Amino acid sequence: MAGVTNAAFRRLCREQGAGLYVCEMITSRGIVEGDRTSLSMLVFDPSEQVRSVQLYGIDPIYIGKAVEILCGDHGVGHVDLNFGCPVPKVTRKGGGAALPWKRRLLGDILTAAVEAARPYGVPVTMKTRIGIDEEHETYLDAGRIAQESGCAAIALHGRTAAQHYSGGADWGAIAALAGHVDIPVLGNGDIWEAADALDMVRRTGCAGVVVGRGCLGRPWLFRDLAAAFAGEPAPPLPTLGEVAAMMRRHAELLTEYFGDQRGCVEFRKHIAWYLKGFRAGGRIRSQLGLVSSLADLDRLLGDLDPDESYPVAELGKPRGRQGTPRRVALPHGWLTDREGTRVDAAAESGISGG
Ligand SMILES: Cc1cc2nc3c(=O)[nH]c(=O)nc-3n(C[C@H](O)[C@H](O)[C@H](O)COP(=O)(O)O)c2cc1C
Repeated sequence: MAGVTNAAFRRLCREQGAGLYVCEMITSRGIVEGDRTSLSMLVFDPSEQVRSVQLYGIDPIYIGKAVEILCGDHGVGHVDLNFGCPVPKVTRKGGGAALPWKRRLLGDILTAAVEAARPYGVPVTMKTRIGIDEEHETYLDAGRIAQESGCAAIALHGRTAAQHYSGGADWGAIAALAGHVDIPVLGNGDIWEAADALDMVRRTGCAGVVVGRGCLGRPWLFRDLAAAFAGEPAPPLPTLGEVAAMMRRHAELLTEYFGDQRGCVEFRKHIAWYLKGFRAGGRIRSQLGLVSSLADLDRLLGDLDPDESYPVAELGKPRGRQGTPRRVALPHGWLTDREGTRVDAAAESGISGG
């Protein structure tokens, strides 16, 4: 998740449970052209046994070169290609979730990535949405193309680009894809609790799940998931004191990677997610939202009631962005041809996630 899954958050999540934690998305151009911001995202904790990177691109040549650089120079052990971004300035140029409509281009990109990764033995996966909108679905073709291109798995977010993050994810599409391809399908959308993951696997036949918003302010979801998949009882919910300790650990890890000042600024966006549903009042929340040192943070967290129990009313509820459905901006004439092989290079700028 862009702006969230940096090395610090991935480490925090990994400390909780098993799983593969994917780096924030990076553009292929950024990597090939040595862009400082893109390269600065290629930071991995020593405990990260598989360096997993999500890559975005629209040009098979750049994608191939970027995968080569990732595997050869950065020790990356898993590359995921993202075709799920619904942001208008990206889809308007034919990028993000609009791109799988062009089947040939999709195949060329995936093949370039798989071939570049092959000498390193690195698996390539793809992530996509159901399609542009409900009249223009792409996921079944995308699954077949991913399989034919040699992808190791495909993750499906059960929404169209037109839905953004609104409404419920369509797990029926995940089941349909699982029945359509032989490669593993990873289901994504609306896993708020560990029980949702078990339910998704049972109902769709998917091989695994991808968690997005459910872990915002709740890294212990991965501990719960590990227990659920191992058939163990659910661990107890954290008290506010335990949540505060998790917040402290998160901030400390961020400051290790980004330094005190920036680490605390990065941490601010997580505060509302951690405290969602707890009684902590507006004053302490707004003070935490301005936190600029770990000492400040310790003082403020010390004011919280450590014994307050977890707000169970929050369980199973959506968190993070929801968005509203809207028409997907597309290049002129985009829908009339499904076999295109090129899109505007500008479709690689302004990209911001999935
Ligand atoms: C803040 C944020 C950033 C995201 N960034 C990315 C991204 O960079 N790449 C991606 O594939 N999906 C990204 N997503 C989408 C999620 O990975 C996921 O597909 C989507 O939220 C649906 O799953 P969920 O219901 O578990 O959240 C992002 C979502 C959010 C909320």
